[in-house]
Amino acid sequence: MAILKVARIGHPVLRCPAEPLPSEEIAAPATQRLIDDMLETMAEYDGVGLAGPQVHVSRRLVVYGVAANRRYPDAPAIPLTVLVNPRITPVGDEREDDMEGCLSIPELRGTVPRWARLEVEALGRNGEPLRYPAEGFHARILQHEVDHLDGKVYLDRMPSMESLAFLAELQRYGLKRAD
Ligand code: NI
Repeated sequence: MAILKVARIGHPVLRCPAEPLPSEEIAAPATQRLIDDMLETMAEYDGVGLAGPQVHVSRRLVVYGVAANRRYPDAPAIPLTVLVNPRITPVGDEREDDMEGCLSIPELRGTVPRWARLEVEALGRNGEPLRYPAEGFHARILQHEVDHLDGKVYLDRMPSMESLAFLAELQRYGLKRAD
């Protein structure tokens, strides 16, 4: 396994819509190695999700999951999951605001509105069809990662840049809310 270089914002791969991964390529050793490397890279950098374009692979591939995480200490535990060609559909019209960060935009956090509930359809790492609901932080991760597959980053989803902050300053001064 290997720790991969993470693309930072400004690299064109992050702005390029990713291509579907043909299902017959999922079992290929190169794909399985890439999945293992993405899982290792996510763990190395304390990420909760990582999408193909973030490791310079413009394919619709996502890994995510939360154990104990230093970058997100309050996050609920979510099992490590691999999604090939994920599609998400909002369920209901409730939206929630919460802070997000991104390994491709180091040190920053910003408040992003996301659908509170959704359903995800994808293939798993063995090509098996997956379909399940997700809500809250879990649904937020999925929306953030699928955005990466479409060439978008969380900054694009912020209605205002006022909440954008360096993590160190947030920890020092707290979150300023307009209420
Ligand atoms: Ni990200």
